[in-house]
Amino acid sequence: MKILLKDIHTIVQVEEDTLRTTAVKGSDMKYLPRMENAWLLVEDDIIKDFGPMSTYPDNGNIIISAEGKWLFPSFCDSHTHLVYAGSREQEFVARTQGKSYEQIAAEGGGILNSASRLNEVPEAELIKQSLPRLKEIMMQGTGAVEIKSGYGLTLEGELKMLRVIKKLKRMTPMAIKATFLGAHAIPKEYKENRQGYIDLIIKQMLPVIAEEKLADYIDVFCDEGFFTVEETEQLLKAGAQYGLKPKIHANELAVSGGVQVGVKNGAVSVDHLERIGTDEIMALLNSNTMPTALPGTSFFLGIDYAPARQMISAGLPICLASDYNPGSTPSGKMAFVLTLACLKMGMLPEEAINAVTVNGAVAMELLEDYGTIARGKKANFFLTKPLSSIAMLPYYYGSNLIDTVFVNGQAQNE
Ligand code: NIG
Ligand code: FE
Repeated sequence: MKILLKDIHTIVQVEEDTLRTTAVKGSDMKYLPRMENAWLLVEDDIIKDFGPMSTYPDNGNIIISAEGKWLFPSFCDSHTHLVYAGSREQEFVARTQGKSYEQIAAEGGGILNSASRLNEVPEAELIKQSLPRLKEIMMQGTGAVEIKSGYGLTLEGELKMLRVIKKLKRMTPMAIKATFLGAHAIPKEYKENRQGYIDLIIKQMLPVIAEEKLADYIDVFCDEGFFTVEETEQLLKAGAQYGLKPKIHANELAVSGGVQVGVKNGAVSVDHLERIGTDEIMALLNSNTMPTALPGTSFFLGIDYAPARQMISAGLPICLASDYNPGSTPSGKMAFVLTLACLKMGMLPEEAINAVTVNGAVAMELLEDYGTIARGKKANFFLTKPLSSIAMLPYYYGSNLIDTVFVNGQAQNE
């Protein structure tokens, strides 16, 4: 099937000739390649061709007029925990009354709260609760997403989560990467025997995960009150033996050493980074690890934002992701992530859009097929309502400016 879109106001993040294979960094982040007054041809699930309206080919089966609308590549959300059971709005209320996220976690709430709920529900129920979240973010413009385990914290629970993620892959046209986050918290039963839990991960969980090919990456919450640098290193090395590259939670609650241990172990990304300084920036500069900021979490927990200007001035790339999860960010809305990045991290709209497209794809090793509008890539993009400039997308933070979503060449409906 051929779908021809005509009179597109602007194609954003368009690539004409040699396709980019690496992240957008530093001062290059403010450039966003565009083509104005354009057409685009989709054939099956692929972007077949595009060009200026002066070269309009008029050869599609279905012709869509996109007058005034802008076309963006779908968002690539490289960090979520969107498979979970139940919700935690009571903790949200407790936080409005002055309790901190750390206090709630120390009292057995937080991740452990989600873990007990998850261990109670059967796989089918977990799918039933998680699939609508995937659908929701797809209609909000996300076309590729990473999903973590980490609310099981038992052999059965972690495997259940990862098997659910594997099934979700077949139930949605979106691209999904799975990350094993058994080291999300120390379960209550192992409070006095941390190494016992780490051994459970290494000796019992990892072999099955590898055998059933349930994960693409391994994650560890390397932070104060969670896993130490030494424990993180032990877990990353064990994951590497099964071919799992790291994507880790680092420096959210403290200057944890997470960035350095991630870089040292070849992490694809280190995520959060609310508490980083010059040492972390230097470590990242000499690496291929993608620094990923999660401004939705800073907003929802009322904590610092990752120092984007400092990172960009140093020449680093930045990726932005949602962190969609029931505790610290119950939202996968990437347009709002853009708003926060601009307002709270001082990023230009162009920089923020690079961070959620090219750099999001790099952080999931998906740039070959996603992240830009290029011939031969997957037809994952969205049309906006008419915009007067690119800044309108982060500016109208309460509106939905996304008009039509295409995933794998198919227009998606609610
Ligand atoms: O990325 N920081 C660790 N994990 C999640 C939160 C998990 C939760 O509170 O359920 C995060 O913020
Ligand atoms: Fe997270």
